[in-house]
Amino acid sequence: SRPLSVGVAGLGTVGAGVLKVLRDNAGLISARAGRPIAVTAVSSRDRHKDRGVPVTGLRWYEDPVALVADPGVDVIVETIGGSEGPARALVEAALAAGKPVVTANKALLALHGRKLAQLAEAHNAPLAFEAAVAGGIPAIKAVREGLAGNDIRRVAGILNGTCNYILTEMRLRGLQFAEVLAEAQKLGYAEADPSFDIDGVDAAHKLAILAALAFNRPVDFSELHVEGIRDVSAVDIEMAAALGFRIKLLGIATRTEAGVSARVHPCMVPLDAPIAHVEGVFNAVVAEGDAVGRVVLQGRGAGAGPTASAVVADLVDIARGRTTPVWGASADALSAAPARPMSSH
Ligand code: HSE
Repeated sequence: SRPLSVGVAGLGTVGAGVLKVLRDNAGLISARAGRPIAVTAVSSRDRHKDRGVPVTGLRWYEDPVALVADPGVDVIVETIGGSEGPARALVEAALAAGKPVVTANKALLALHGRKLAQLAEAHNAPLAFEAAVAGGIPAIKAVREGLAGNDIRRVAGILNGTCNYILTEMRLRGLQFAEVLAEAQKLGYAEADPSFDIDGVDAAHKLAILAALAFNRPVDFSELHVEGIRDVSAVDIEMAAALGFRIKLLGIATRTEAGVSARVHPCMVPLDAPIAHVEGVFNAVVAEGDAVGRVVLQGRGAGAGPTASAVVADLVDIARGRTTPVWGASADALSAAPARPMSSH
């Protein structure tokens, strides 16, 4: 049947990765989606940069919002990033026009997710964001759909690949923080502004999304306690190891009587905890439900392939006409008052 025609906005690590996965696995993807999925249009500033994938024969726009008006584009993939500016303008324009959106943009969702969900519902346009949390781990599907029958008490995890990579390499190779950060940037793990990674903001964006899904309530991002790994030294890591711990940047959200407690900070994780052994760019997501008990997922949390894997999964859903309410519930059904996350201290 008719191919699903995709417009990709932003051809950085993730956008180029989406082109590559769609091309490499075209036959399998088409079989699973029930029809071919093909990128036909893109928006990116630099037309001539080598991205390791062919970009010839695509309609090319400078302004990402122009993709929405292209009648040949069925669905928008947003991999520009950033909670404001062109990414936000594009997603709002696409949803308002009733075009499905697949985004990897955790900052946008953490800050404006509820409004975007209302817009999506009002215009009957799917808004999918598997790639926004924990890269290639199907964390959104797991929490929103897989655990839909549970009263979820807690959701937590290693949610930033750059930080976990830095902490791992500092320990294994005795390197300084700054040297490893430069490596993570080269590998395409870090955000455009790496302070979002190392100061815990990126992990907090993802935690806010997971918490909203797990607890069916909007989480006010500004209330999260957020602390990164800038002040973790090689000596801290060594001392922790000597005592039988690994230092991990964790995001932890717990439902409390007062609402939701959500925080991101470095933690001493005992070596007998499975997530102590989740190393390098790997992320982990832990959810605890009353019926299921504890579920642990791990996988690569950043980089072209893992993030593209999640984007393409959303495209397959859309190609098949499988749609889910954005938060698993109607945006209006989420309790009106945002839960006030409280820090643990
Ligand atoms: N900069 C993020 C990370 C990319 O390192 O985890 C995936 O969101």
